Amino acid sequence: MTRAVVLASGFGSNLQTIIDRTDSGKLSIEVVAVISDQAQAFALQRAKLADIPAIFVDPKNFSSRIEYDVELSDEIKRLKADLIVLAGFMRILSIQFIESFPWRIMNIHPSLLPKYKGLNTHARVLNAGDRYHGATVHFVTEELDAGPIIIHKKVPVYSNDTEIELKNRVHECEYEIYPIAIQWFADGELSVDNGQVLRRGKPCFAELSHWWPVKLNFWGK
Ligand code: GRF
Repeated sequence: MTRAVVLASGFGSNLQTIIDRTDSGKLSIEVVAVISDQAQAFALQRAKLADIPAIFVDPKNFSSRIEYDVELSDEIKRLKADLIVLAGFMRILSIQFIESFPWRIMNIHPSLLPKYKGLNTHARVLNAGDRYHGATVHFVTEELDAGPIIIHKKVPVYSNDTEIELKNRVHECEYEIYPIAIQWFADGELSVDNGQVLRRGKPCFAELSHWWPVKLNFWGK
């Protein structure tokens, strides 16, 4: 069984989805710990409620990003994790950390990458007047929000959308695609060749329209 560590700084709704899917047997991984850089992160409470070790690594105890990341990586190695799932982890990881876990760190980003890297994606999409927005799961590389894409899903932007409405719509699709990508990893189906993610040896960058998983009954077990 794939041992996953989830790193989260905040609310942890993606973490909750992963926990729920795991508990209901729809996602075949074991979440071996949740680690946060924020003592008050609700994600840590969610972990405790689910009987998952909740670990706070306080940035104040380290004089540099690299020192912090060494502790993080030691902790992850102690946990014997196969996969690191970033779910709203608001720290930039050092190259040393990223290189310690090649193609074993996944992130979810609230935009259709490569568009809208960085923060405040929903407001930026609304300001630009885009008709579509979405979320992307990708492997993490040194360059922020630029690693090889595993899966993304598009959602429509309506002319009267508020930022909150749009954010909620994007979150719904995050809850759909992150477990899919994690399950592909857990099944040993993913590899990276020349900067491109392959699933079962074929380019897997799949764009899900909003009906696809329902129609194919992806979770229909
Ligand atoms: C999500 O929007 C995710 O795309 C981004 O951070 C947010 C985390 O939300 N990386 P939550 O903590 O999972 O609710």
